[in-house]
Amino acid sequence: MFADRVLSGMRPTGSLHLGHYHGVLKNWVQMQHEYECLFFVADWHALTTHYDTPQIIEQSVWDMVVDWLAAGVDPAHATLFIQSRVPEHAELHLLLSMITPLGWLERVPTYKDQQEKLSEKDLSTYGFLGYPLLQSADILIYRATQVPVGEDQVPHIEFTREIARRFNHIYGREPGFEERAEAAVKKLGGKKAKLFAELRTRYQEHGDDEALESAKSLLDEQQSLSHGDRERLFGYLEGGGKMILSEPRAMLTAASKMPGLDGQKMSKSYDNTITLREDEASVSKKIRTMPTDPARIRRTDVGDPDKCPVWPLHLVYSSEQTKQWVIQGCKSAGIGCIECKQPVIDAVLEEQRPMRERAQQYLDDPALVRNIIADGCEKARKLASETMRDVREAMGLSYS
Ligand code: TRP
Ligand code: SF4
Repeated sequence: MFADRVLSGMRPTGSLHLGHYHGVLKNWVQMQHEYECLFFVADWHALTTHYDTPQIIEQSVWDMVVDWLAAGVDPAHATLFIQSRVPEHAELHLLLSMITPLGWLERVPTYKDQQEKLSEKDLSTYGFLGYPLLQSADILIYRATQVPVGEDQVPHIEFTREIARRFNHIYGREPGFEERAEAAVKKLGGKKAKLFAELRTRYQEHGDDEALESAKSLLDEQQSLSHGDRERLFGYLEGGGKMILSEPRAMLTAASKMPGLDGQKMSKSYDNTITLREDEASVSKKIRTMPTDPARIRRTDVGDPDKCPVWPLHLVYSSEQTKQWVIQGCKSAGIGCIECKQPVIDAVLEEQRPMRERAQQYLDDPALVRNIIADGCEKARKLASETMRDVREAMGLSYS
């Protein structure tokens, strides 16, 4: 239950481009082989800012899933689902809202930032203020241990940790906790009980983090512990009450350095993107018409790669040898700009070829995609309902 589990979500607000591929998707593809992974379409999050353009969301949801599959996210290794198909997220969001101080939400930096940045939209809504809390519900409902996110999202993970702590603090204090925890220690059996007690002392009295980690893995290995006892022991170990929700860690994904067609970072808002599965002719054309060093007006003018938006693309895609060829050719006017761009065009097309191929089967048979998502939603719901059972019980809502 507390073993490593990775969760991440993406908002469906338009087509994905190579910046998403280099910044996020490549990472997901790698992580799916290293961890249990859950990846979901955050359609409710998209509605917080795009509530007046539901058409965009609906279309983007399926396009985005095809993009994920095209990039190599593999449903045999990762669970793919849609947030709104797991309504338990909404229930947890509501329940957590009962204990969430307004000030905490107002102080999350993205709240004011985004309101200012998207000033053409009215974002003084209840839903938008609750954005980070909905994200907390997404994470906590799966007891995710790691959340791969970009720098801008780190405050949301911090916020989530505080919510989990507050929840455990308020609802983890059952009557007779100490006695119950001690009884649970005994159930580990003589040797392990003794080891657990030693590790706990080492951590609590000497702050020994290694002892904490060892004790956690000891607990992870105990298949026969009941769920309640597991929560008690994790809480008891760290010196609190029952640990009903576990605190996630942010897993910082290296910021995408993917340059766009104009030298700025690739982003839809700069209109400088190449989409993930863009057709070959369009990719070639976009790169062929990219601006270059403005000093190279004629073919015979020398240029400087450092002043050219094509150069950052060579840094992403080209070999050492090609880069030397560019530097020399550019500075001596030995090569023309069209010539210089060709290796980049070739590399982008080659990168996209397997993506286009993988996507084709899903475009030919959309039912495949629906089935992958239906399976994923079912798996996710099962995990989510386990957490909800504990949450409802802790909050006095498990009537029987
Ligand atoms: N807020 C995230 C973003 O804009 C998307 C998101 C929603 C998310 N829920 C999440 C990311 C849960 C990680 C975990 O990128
Ligand atoms: Fe840019 Fe290459 Fe032309 Fe030099 S030769 S200006 S690096 S496109």
